Amino acid sequence: MDATLGGGGHTAALLDALVAGGRVIAIDRDADSIRETEERLPHEIERERLRLLRGNFADLEALLSGIGESRVDGLLMDLGVSSHQLDLGSRGFSFRADGPLDMRMDDRAGVTAADLVNGLDEAGIRRLIRVYGEEPSAGRIARALVRDRPVATTSELADTVRSAIPGGAHAAKSLARVFQALRIVVNGELDALESALRAATRLVRTGGRMIVISYHSLEDRRVKRYLRYGNFEGRPVRDLYGNLVAPWKEMDRHALEPDEAEVLRNPRARSARLRIAERVHEGRPEGSE
Ligand SMILES: C[S@@+](CC[C@H](N)C(=O)[O-])C[C@H]1O[C@@H](n2cnc3c(N)ncnc32)[C@H](O)[C@@H]1O
Repeated sequence: MDATLGGGGHTAALLDALVAGGRVIAIDRDADSIRETEERLPHEIERERLRLLRGNFADLEALLSGIGESRVDGLLMDLGVSSHQLDLGSRGFSFRADGPLDMRMDDRAGVTAADLVNGLDEAGIRRLIRVYGEEPSAGRIARALVRDRPVATTSELADTVRSAIPGGAHAAKSLARVFQALRIVVNGELDALESALRAATRLVRTGGRMIVISYHSLEDRRVKRYLRYGNFEGRPVRDLYGNLVAPWKEMDRHALEPDEAEVLRNPRARSARLRIAERVHEGRPEGSE
C-alpha cells in the first residue's frame, strides 16, 4: 500500500516490482493525484494490479475495509506535499508561486490557510508558527500578520513575513517555516500521521514492512519514536521478564538520507529522512501505546 500516491513515482516502482498476483493499493486525499494516475495507468487499474482510493490516511482501516481488505504486506508513506501541489499556484502551498492562501490537500475539507491567518488572534498565530514551524521570530511575524490583515494571497503572506524579519530579503528559511506551519495545521498532518502509524501496527502482517519518508523534525521524531518503542512518548515497554517489546523492528537505527548526487538531481529531496521497519509482534495489546 502506498498511502501517499502524489505524482505516482513510488506506486509505479512498486508496480514494477510486484510478484504475480500482487496488488498495489494507493491512497491520496488530493483529487488531482487520483485523477492523473487514473489517466496515466488505466491498464494497471483494469488488470486489477492497482486500486486507487481517495481519502485521508488517518482513516486507513476504514479505507481498506471499504474494499474488503484488512491486511497488507507493506506500507509506504512519503509525507508532506507533492511537487504538483507546490508548483500549482492556485493551491496556495508555495511562497514561490502566487495564488490564493488555501493549502488544503483535500479541497472538500473546511479551513484554509487564509481562514487561520485572518481568523486567529495574535497569540494563536504566534503559537501556530512557533509550534508547527519551529520559527524563532514567531512573535514578530504574528504581530506583522495581524497588522497587515486581511491577507489573501501567498505573495501577500510572503511580503508580510519578509517585512517582519531582520534582513528580510534573506528570509527564505522563515518563509518556509511559516508556510510549513500553516500547511500542517490546515491539513491536520501530525494527527493523521499518528493515526496512520497506529493503524499500520494493526494492518501490516508479521514480517511485513513499513517505510516512512519525513521532511521535518516534527514528523521524523514521531516516526522514530513509534518505530522504536511503539508509542509517541519514546517510552520503552518491557514484558514480565524485563525484555523490551515493540511491534516494529527498525531495519536501520539511522534514518537514510539522500547523498549529494541525489540532492543535485532532486533538490526537494534534501531534507528527506527515510525510516524502515519490520512488523515483528503479532497481537500486541491494543492501547498499550
Ligand atoms: C510527497 S507527496 C508523495 C509523492 C509520491 N511519493 C510520488 O512518487 O510522486 C505526498 C502526497 O501525500 C498526500 N497526502 C499527504 N497527507 C495525506 C493524508 N493524510 N492522507 C492522504 N494523502 C495524503 C499529498 O496529497 C501528496 O500528494
